[in-house]
Amino acid sequence: MPVEYVVPRPSQKTAPSPQATRREFLYLATAATTAIGVASLAWPFLDQMNPSADVIAAGGPVTVDISKVEPGQQIVVTWRGRPIFIVHRTPDALTALQSTSMLDRLRDPQSQALQQPPYAKNWSRSVKPEFAVLVGICTHLGCIPSFRPTVTADWPGGYLCQCHGSKYDLAGRVFRGVPAPYNLPVPPYRFENDATLVIGDNPQGSNFSLDDINQL
Ligand code: FES
Repeated sequence: MPVEYVVPRPSQKTAPSPQATRREFLYLATAATTAIGVASLAWPFLDQMNPSADVIAAGGPVTVDISKVEPGQQIVVTWRGRPIFIVHRTPDALTALQSTSMLDRLRDPQSQALQQPPYAKNWSRSVKPEFAVLVGICTHLGCIPSFRPTVTADWPGGYLCQCHGSKYDLAGRVFRGVPAPYNLPVPPYRFENDATLVIGDNPQGSNFSLDDINQL
């Protein structure tokens, strides 16, 4: 069944620079080319959470049922018009994220740059290690990286951005020697319960905003 997957234009904090314009172009172009594949996986979950048009337009929090996401799988939902990757990481993937040889290959392994909320500034860049929640937009020029979850001896699982070859691990941490300057952003989110995520809302006591990060 064909499913329409609409990725609206992201909002701008400042007047767009030539680079921002190119970032947006690449983002929209890759969104269009990956729409069918993303939608086929995301649709059951999007249908289930069923946010109102008002909530979508306002960029309000989006509730996602993650109970059917098996280890090794990713679903993609939209929040504020941006793709949000939600990954159920396997035990092998969690081990790879902590491997010192892999950490040496990353540009910012300790997440020093402000690309995540304080409650995700940890080794897994997440609230619960087994679930990654990432904004799926490459920090180079804004393409949507593709999911490469299989862990091998020299690959911890992660993402490849085919626009210019940037690579990220399954915590969204960027590798050294690629064009992307920053880790993938982590949006504000919280667990309502073990099976329910709320994207766009913080745990109690935090007021993190995606507008505060270095690079979207
Ligand atoms: S947009 Fe250039 S590597 Fe991702």
